[in-house]
Amino acid sequence: MKERTLSIVKPEAVRKGLTEPIGERLKAAGLEIVARKKMTLTEAQARRFYDIHREQPFFESLVLYMASGEIVAQILEGENAVKRNREAMGATDPAKASAGTIRADYGESVEANAVHGSDSAETARQEIAFFFGADKP
Ligand code: CMP
Repeated sequence: MKERTLSIVKPEAVRKGLTEPIGERLKAAGLEIVARKKMTLTEAQARRFYDIHREQPFFESLVLYMASGEIVAQILEGENAVKRNREAMGATDPAKASAGTIRADYGESVEANAVHGSDSAETARQEIAFFFGADKP
């Protein structure tokens, strides 16, 4: 069944010009990029996006990092898009991600790990609405 998920190219990856190479990896994994938006999150928006992590010790640092520069939010579509995107990204910690995954190849640290991807179909709906609201295709 066709499904959608939300992907974010994080600030360090946008700064390094990795948006297109990452897009190619996602396409090679069978995902179509159906919408894309380049923007800089305010700290308040980053805090709201990552609200589920508000009790975590890394929360404030993550918020500051995500608001530190441009990001690219994108809607991916394909069969089992949530799972495919997670497989293409690899583990959260780039040092533990399998060879050939986006985070293994492009991530710098657990925080600056190149990409974010929704962790379930329900989270994907919420995260797509967060970035694209009524403008989604
Ligand atoms: P992401 O998929 O964007 O979802 C939450 C983010 O928190 C995660 O990727 C990491 O970049 C960041 N993070 C920072 N420190 C940690 C940690 N110790 N464990 C998990 N996630 C962390």
